[in-house]
Amino acid sequence: MKRISTVLLAATTSFAVACTGDPTKGGGGGDDDDGPGSNVGDEWDQELAKRDYDYNAALKIAALRLTGDLPTMDEITSVRDAADNAAKKVAYEALVQAYMGRPTFARQMFFFWRDTFKMGETPELDTAPAFAAQISTGVGKYTDLFTSGANNCPTFDGVGTFTPAECPGNAPKAGVLSNPGAMKHYFGNFAFRRVKWVQETFVCTKFPISSQIAGTPTDNGGATPYTGVFPISSFSGTANGGRVDFQDGKAVQCGHCHQNLNHVAPMFANFDENGVYQNQIAVPTPLDGAPLAQATDYLPPGEGYAWRFGVPVNDLPSLGAAMAADNDVAECGVARIWNWALGKTDIVDTLQTVPSDTIASQTTAFKGDYNVKNLIFAVYTADDFVKF
Ligand code: HEC
Repeated sequence: MKRISTVLLAATTSFAVACTGDPTKGGGGGDDDDGPGSNVGDEWDQELAKRDYDYNAALKIAALRLTGDLPTMDEITSVRDAADNAAKKVAYEALVQAYMGRPTFARQMFFFWRDTFKMGETPELDTAPAFAAQISTGVGKYTDLFTSGANNCPTFDGVGTFTPAECPGNAPKAGVLSNPGAMKHYFGNFAFRRVKWVQETFVCTKFPISSQIAGTPTDNGGATPYTGVFPISSFSGTANGGRVDFQDGKAVQCGHCHQNLNHVAPMFANFDENGVYQNQIAVPTPLDGAPLAQATDYLPPGEGYAWRFGVPVNDLPSLGAAMAADNDVAECGVARIWNWALGKTDIVDTLQTVPSDTIASQTTAFKGDYNVKNLIFAVYTADDFVKF
């Protein structure tokens, strides 16, 4: 009766990216672990084959997650007394649909997004979770989280009703990427904490990003070479006009993370400590006297912004569009719904809690419409959820 995810998690060796984002603690680069070893496939297959359908067990979990309540006696019997597995499946799936139509589902999604965004419980901090919860109830698409140009700060009444509202301020509008509450909550030097939040929340992995440190090794005087995909000269160091040496590699290859951080952070840098968008950079640096950051601290003159190497962007809306087109972002959305369905907590670095082919096919389906409600239905009715 062990859930498959537990088995898989145990079989999955740690991703072990030792980076904390604290430059003094090191840990940049050198992580070429590509996740679960290839020998776990047989173990998965064996465990998968051992399981049987148990629609009543699935119903109990689905009801708790989707509505916050246990199934009623009528609901339990409608599944239990169905003639065979095919009929139980029909009864179960009808209940999953019904649950997602209830006001309590909106409330559950609101809680889910508060947890996911790690923010909420004040009116200002609740607008991003409310926006995402509204999307999850079938209004709009998942990608609106990054691309929506209006009404990105709705309120939720705690029961089941969302009221659309415009975010305050004159920031370029890009879903939750320009949410004032999120910008305030994740305020920090250079706006790097905001970029870390975006990476971990919507890509489900920490810096450094494995695909971005698979470049040609370059000796920059460090104990280990720089392997970032961006050329070292494309981000700032003390050698090309910056005041912090992000090109340094002596203790740790700063550039393994900062090649990406520095190409994204300037787009978040005009939000001040209160999340209010200013017409110029409004985040400080850890330099003496905490002066405000300057554009040349991030990137040398003439270097454009980028979501990833080879994916140029120029402002928050185009960043949002690049994220909306990124398969890793879609996959993270699917993985988060699985993680929640299976009762896992922290997903970052443990992306793969279900078989990769399940994730891959559901990611493909998800990308067809980016409908979060359809995704939730697909997860809660998948064999990996209803078999024990
Ligand atoms: C493993 C990835 C990684 C590496 C390697 C790394 N950084 Fe960072 N750095 C981050 C992240 C993520 C943040 C944002 C942390 C936060 O605010 O929570 C950050 C924040 C910073 C900040 C702002 C911190 C503050 O004072 O609030 C500076 C300055 C910085 N890094 C410089 C460097 C330098 C210089 C190096 C190399 C010696 C380096 N970093 C190596 C990921 C990294």
